[in-house]
Amino acid sequence: MIVVASDHGGLSLKSAICAVLKEREIVYRDLGTDNGDSVDYPDFAAKVAAQVSSGEAEQGVLICGTGIGISIAANKYPGVRAALVHDPFTAKMSKEHNNANILVMGGRVLSEVEARNLVTIWLDTAFEGGRHQKRLDKITAIEENLRSSR
Ligand code: RB5
Repeated sequence: MIVVASDHGGLSLKSAICAVLKEREIVYRDLGTDNGDSVDYPDFAAKVAAQVSSGEAEQGVLICGTGIGISIAANKYPGVRAALVHDPFTAKMSKEHNNANILVMGGRVLSEVEARNLVTIWLDTAFEGGRHQKRLDKITAIEENLRSSR
């Protein structure tokens, strides 16, 4: 199950992404925003990142104007690897090397055609594991050390 959300700056790209998921018969939940009113991107990052962090959702997609703010906020959640991607290469690498469980894009950066392509690449790419798993384990260790030092 994939959870999807955006702020007002990512609203039209979100519709394009939901259309891709629907076409591919992938189960997804659209967690808003639902209209063009100005909202705060951390609220929508939290909706998606909390579900990915808890395991309630396997993956997520987040969009704000640039993708920057919403990725910063999502990456505060333990176990979340939110990757801001801009092109086919970064979309592929985000899964192959980083096993990104949240794909992030900029609604004021990409066209709908580009965003559809990037989400398709991310969905269709597999994590390589191996030396990359060891690096992800180090990220998990950082999270655990921070938690136990609080
Ligand atoms: C909203 O105007 C804008 O700041 C937001 O969508 C995003 O680009 C933040 O990083």
